Amino acid sequence: MSDMVDTIMDSTSAELPEVIDKKWFRAGSLKEIPEDEGLRLTTVPPVSVFAADGEFFCVDDTCTHETYSLAEGWVENCVVECSLHLAKFSLRTGEVLSAPASAPVAVHPVSVIGDDIFVALPNSYLVKENE
Ligand code: FES
Repeated sequence: MSDMVDTIMDSTSAELPEVIDKKWFRAGSLKEIPEDEGLRLTTVPPVSVFAADGEFFCVDDTCTHETYSLAEGWVENCVVECSLHLAKFSLRTGEVLSAPASAPVAVHPVSVIGDDIFVALPNSYLVKENE
């Protein structure tokens, strides 16, 4: 598990798109997420940011089959494969592409400004913000 919770910041940057019932947080910097890797953030529920095909994606981290971190999985062609029982999820839509999972994972908006990656999470998600 990452200690990223200490670096997640509320962002009020005017450069970020407007979101409804969500709030932007800085998730990390570009260099923290190599291509085809995921970075788990210790929000509640946890989410992960993935780098794939030159883009960044944010999805709920917990596999919907059982409670296992998708950030531990394998990424290829914008798909993450859970490393526990090999269910596959689209990083673009969250849909299940391969059993044994049957329910999708939630996807969240991502925006990159300079070297920083921001994610927009629902207001119901708990995020420890820097003081
Ligand atoms: S926990 Fe992910 S496929 Fe079973």
